[in-house]
Amino acid sequence: MKLLDIKNLRVYYFSEEGVVKAVDGVSLSLNKGETLGVVGESGCGKSTLGLSVLRLVPYPGKMVSGKIFYNGIDLLSLSDEEVRKLRGKEIAMIFQNPDVSLNPIMNIKEHLVEAILTHEEIDEREAVEKTEEILGKVGIPKNRINDYPHQFSGGMKQRIMIALALLLNPKLIIADEPTSSLDVLIQAKTLELLRNLKEEYGLSLILITHDFGVVFEESDRIAVMYAGHIIEIAKNTELYDKPLHPYTQALIKAVPTVTPEEQKLNYILGMPPSLLTPPKGCRFYARCKYAREICKFKEPKTATVGREHIVKCHLY
Ligand SMILES: Nc1ncnc2c1ncn2[C@@H]1O[C@H](COP(=O)(O)OP(=O)(O)OP(=O)(O)O)[C@@H](O)[C@H]1O
Ligand SMILES: [Mg+2]
Repeated sequence: MKLLDIKNLRVYYFSEEGVVKAVDGVSLSLNKGETLGVVGESGCGKSTLGLSVLRLVPYPGKMVSGKIFYNGIDLLSLSDEEVRKLRGKEIAMIFQNPDVSLNPIMNIKEHLVEAILTHEEIDEREAVEKTEEILGKVGIPKNRINDYPHQFSGGMKQRIMIALALLLNPKLIIADEPTSSLDVLIQAKTLELLRNLKEEYGLSLILITHDFGVVFEESDRIAVMYAGHIIEIAKNTELYDKPLHPYTQALIKAVPTVTPEEQKLNYILGMPPSLLTPPKGCRFYARCKYAREICKFKEPKTATVGREHIVKCHLY
């Protein structure tokens, strides 16, 4: 059964410069227990997509059309109050930047205890016990719980963010670049922790990142995003072994290889288009070595190749 089903979602920012079409007709689903990776270059709309699921798209952003079903519930039809009840308890998010999300004048215990008490009717003693338990799970020692955010390293802050997300036993976690600010070793440890907790708690996970290596290691299925569109979705090994979209093919070639010289040759030429005035046809047109006349004028439909390999390209 599908835990999350996003249908033809459009989310636009009505900025002073014009309308930024950050998410422009995205369809995506997530099965129970699955890890879905969402990968794409900076600015392609990944965070906007993640925030939409929690109905947290900031002003001047707006969900203009589409549907998001969570466990069969139409999230966009719920009242603000009803959505607030889902946040943290059903769906939680690990945000891109812990320094923005953690309040510098609250210690860690206050952060977690307050989060529990606003959602659950238990007394403070129980909330503190739960806080200590969950901090233990993410490897923050008990004697640090009265410390403030600035007293923790980047890796520890990210683990505190994971603890905050887990606190109310959600079923779905959306992790937005949970490790991109960390060095490689701490990144690997944090991802391992997230993977273990996912198993232990029976979670489903959407992992958002620009790092194809990370997404490939961690995901069951991968969705590739480009300039507000999902251009390919497939099982992890299928996508890696048989990428269909020219952009995915280029992305996989650009994954760091043995020597830096080789790597240099493999980056994708050009820049993604502006989302203020996206091209009429295929958004990858200007950078694509297979581009034809039709690609310039007509937006490709989404085709299903084989059982569940989805691609948005005129070649298919
Ligand atoms: N508040 C805003 N006002 C106007 N435009 C915005 C706003 N927030 C995001 N955008 C634009 O929407 C597009 C998608 O942004 P988003 O943050 O979702 O991308 P992203 O894929 O998460 O990027 P990154 O990898 O850098 O985090 C970008 O073009 C961005 O400039
Ligand atoms: Mg982002």
